[in-house]
Amino acid sequence: MAILITGGAGYIGSHTAVELLEAGYEIVIVDNFSNSHPEAIKRIGEITNKPFIFYELDLMDQERLEEVFARHSIEAVIHFAGLKAVGESVQLPLKYYHTNIYSTLVLCEIMKKYEVFKLVFSSSATVYGCPETVPITEDSSLGASNPYGRTKQMIEEILQDMALSDPQWGISILRYFNPIGAHKSGRIGENPSGIPNNLMPYISQVAVGKLERLNVFGCDYPTVDGTGVRDYIHVVDLAQGHIKALERIMQRKGVDVYNLGTGKGLSVLEMISTFESASGRRIPYAFAERRSGDIAVCYADTLKANRELNWSADRGIMEMCEDTWRWQCANPNGYSEIELEKAN
Ligand code: UFG
Repeated sequence: MAILITGGAGYIGSHTAVELLEAGYEIVIVDNFSNSHPEAIKRIGEITNKPFIFYELDLMDQERLEEVFARHSIEAVIHFAGLKAVGESVQLPLKYYHTNIYSTLVLCEIMKKYEVFKLVFSSSATVYGCPETVPITEDSSLGASNPYGRTKQMIEEILQDMALSDPQWGISILRYFNPIGAHKSGRIGENPSGIPNNLMPYISQVAVGKLERLNVFGCDYPTVDGTGVRDYIHVVDLAQGHIKALERIMQRKGVDVYNLGTGKGLSVLEMISTFESASGRRIPYAFAERRSGDIAVCYADTLKANRELNWSADRGIMEMCEDTWRWQCANPNGYSEIELEKAN
């Protein structure tokens, strides 16, 4: 029996694949490399020295996806695949709704057909929109504020309806806060294409000299130092959360929603200074206007995941920065020189 990982070449998918293999699971990965690189697949094998199956395919290719279910005995699915750039989703909403929602529908239809009723879904804290209070609990009101976030929220609703219609489903919806860091080996990590949108890859590219200076979006938020506060979580802790969620749905049916975060908020300036200590490099920065759509503070209440999944995110912020830095130094151009050619 194998676990199918969709989007397993991506940042969180590849780290989860490694943790699953290390824990002794059999895995099958599918990925269309739309925002990932074949090198990640190679390195999952290299790090673990364990065999696994990989197919390059698009989830919307119903026929080929069905072949995977016909060929392998799939026990559960961890569904990471999807588009994830907030800004792009505002420009290209139809692309986001079509890709993220349609691919999930195809996947779930095939799962049903092959009687695979266990699913872990990769959602996001973005579904909370602008939280009324922090820390954010799972029953806080939802209100994603961009098309990307709305695809996550809509898929969550689809999964809830699906489970209501058929009690055989066991579904775990994981709402990620801000994943950063990389595997200790420095062989897999976040590999954004072009100029990064997110804070941590931007900081690390400034530190390594690829980008000149960080723009700090906003200095007048009602926070400890005026800059935005987020709940940064080590990607390996996050990956291990998926294994705990998987173990839970092996025992239980219905839908459960969990926040995966550390429960601690850190400001942009705190992140800069921690990264400076971890890397020994100075990070030049300048204050800029607030980024449209950003909120002041976002961090998780993690009690439910702590209690029901017996999981907590234990890696601290220094370790997150050190691991990001190791990955960045060893792979200044991401997974391949192709990145370098693009930049020139
Ligand atoms: N920031 C900067 N400069 C940058 C990039 C970010 O100052 O160049 C600031 C932001 O204003 C924010 C903080 O750093 O205060 C974190 O920003 P990120 O872009 O790294 O992360 P966000 O919290 O905005 O969003 C991320 C993902 C979303 C996901 C969300 C979940 O991009 O997809 O976390 O909480 F939904």
